[in-house]
Amino acid sequence: MTTNNEFGISAIGLAIPSYGLPLQELAKIRNTDATKFIDGLGCEVMALCNSAENVVTLALKAVQRALDNWGGKLEDIGLVVAATESSIDMSRPLSSWVMQELNLKGNIRSYEVKHACYGGTVALRQALEWKISGNSKNKVALVVAADVALYAQDHSGEPTQGAGAVAFIIGEPNIASINPISYYWSESQYDFWRPVGDKYPEVNGRLSLTCYINAMLNCFTQIAPKHELQNYLQEYNYICCHVPFPKMVHKAFAKLGQFCNIDPLFVESLYLQRVYATMDWNRKIGNSYTASLWFAVANALTKMQGQQQLLAFSYGSGCGAEILTLKCVANQQVATWVRQLEQDLTQRTIIDAAHYLEIRKSYDSSL
Ligand code: HMG
Repeated sequence: MTTNNEFGISAIGLAIPSYGLPLQELAKIRNTDATKFIDGLGCEVMALCNSAENVVTLALKAVQRALDNWGGKLEDIGLVVAATESSIDMSRPLSSWVMQELNLKGNIRSYEVKHACYGGTVALRQALEWKISGNSKNKVALVVAADVALYAQDHSGEPTQGAGAVAFIIGEPNIASINPISYYWSESQYDFWRPVGDKYPEVNGRLSLTCYINAMLNCFTQIAPKHELQNYLQEYNYICCHVPFPKMVHKAFAKLGQFCNIDPLFVESLYLQRVYATMDWNRKIGNSYTASLWFAVANALTKMQGQQQLLAFSYGSGCGAEILTLKCVANQQVATWVRQLEQDLTQRTIIDAAHYLEIRKSYDSSL
């Protein structure tokens, strides 16, 4: 039962796959200076699937963890939404695998959402709006954003690869409440796309950077006029962004500062304290598309106290963007879901370049 019409995150479950490839290893086989990947792009380790893992297993792992951490009853779930751009089926939604695994059926709405990396945010928003509408009949929503991000070998996007899943129970705001007012923006672009049947995406790398920055300027300047934005940004203890690679966020944030005529030194210190700090996990996972922003949000929640606010900027190619704002209810530093991810990161198998080339053979032939 909801008490004051405020909804948000009741539980979180995070999952990454079993392998990690340090970017130094990729640099060895791509004849590149590793500092380009580590300093130039800001990536440290990419998460990769073993032969038994894929988007479905990642989603199910995150969902199971969210349910265990929530402790509620399956009968209380009235909506299952899955967001992904790594679907293994053009028709059957990823949410059906979730329903199958949990043996769920009945008066439940279940579907998949697609809008490149923005899909996870759309799924979360729809769950929130369903709660606000009253049509949830006091049930909760199970939302999962899961992806496996792969590019063709030697593609410029290869060092940004990653994989992971973030699942949420949306209902009582035990962890964080979500403000129903958001700031959204979209336009039609071909910056990153994957035609039906193609294994890997096509990318217009330069255009994708411009689209991301343009979307950020258009969303942030809805929060406040350019000359007042500096003051408004200070209301947020953390500013989380979609992280295709960490340097993208730095670049875009600097452009936002320039656009709003904010002192570059102020922008840089805001970035270091409130943005860079949220990407601890992204640097070790890589781009997990729909889940990427939500790993940053989850990380920020471990650093916040009750009543502090964070801002979440979502971007998806194609392109669509939205800013959500969340208020932390309770610090999460010692929460089980945090321990679970930290354990995954320390216990995963770190592979070398030769092993990567070996698993690439099976990815390339099986996808
Ligand atoms: P690139 O063109 O190979 O890299 O790949 P570059 O030449 O631009 O170099 C990158 C940076 O490294 C530069 O820094 C270099 O100077 C620096 P900058 O000038 O930009 O500050 N550098 C070095 N630094 C230190 N030591 C060195 C060295 N050498 C160079 N030795 C590109 C970059 C973005 C094109 C590539 O990573 C790519 O194709 N990525 C995929 C597309 C992407 O991630 N776009 C981001 C925005 S779109 C988005 O976010 C949506 C997405 O997530 C998909 C979705 O929505 O589903 C991708």
